[in-house]
Amino acid sequence: MNQHRLRIGVLASGRGSNLQAIIEASVQGRINAGVVVVISDVADAYALERAKKYGIPGFHITPKDFRNKKEYEQAIVNKLREYDVRLVALAGYMRLVTDVLITAFDGNIMNIHPALLPSFKGLHAQQQALEYGVRYSGCTVHFVTIDVDGGPVILQAVVPVYDNDTEETLSARILEKEHIIYPEAIQLFSEGRLKRAGKRVLIT
Ligand code: GRF
Repeated sequence: MNQHRLRIGVLASGRGSNLQAIIEASVQGRINAGVVVVISDVADAYALERAKKYGIPGFHITPKDFRNKKEYEQAIVNKLREYDVRLVALAGYMRLVTDVLITAFDGNIMNIHPALLPSFKGLHAQQQALEYGVRYSGCTVHFVTIDVDGGPVILQAVVPVYDNDTEETLSARILEKEHIIYPEAIQLFSEGRLKRAGKRVLIT
């Protein structure tokens, strides 16, 4: 791999379709970045299968093997360091991160959320949007801070919400956009074009 490429470590708990989108963008040369390690807290996460398919090292690290959450997260940090990761991308990672990860990779952790933040934080964001009755929803790539789903917004994409939508149909519409804006945000980061100005992220 080209040494100048941004080295990404992905944390995922499940399906891993965002991981796949990032890997494809990388393989196709659309981003100057590569996924160098995938870590999952779930042993049979499909994300680990996807990593394997591309020859990317994948690890299952479970909190059960550690005395507490901080030790668990320190093990993740150690693994990310081992692979010289410069950007941590959370992609369907279903745990709240602690200051152990945030301090270790300060300003270099991204997440994707399936709603237009700050609306509909937390779980089942698409269902929350449906129940609220909004006409538009979407997704948000943001920097991760200790404030859950509250870090500085990098990119957002909007989709319409239709009267006959279900959680599944809306989620699918949003997911298509997720797969576009996550690689885009990573590319901007790799080019050093994301400048933090307080709560705002300016694209230079
Ligand atoms: C996505 O909807 C993402 O926004 C949310 O979790 C889901 C992960 O999907 N954080 P996948 O594992 O990337 O397919």
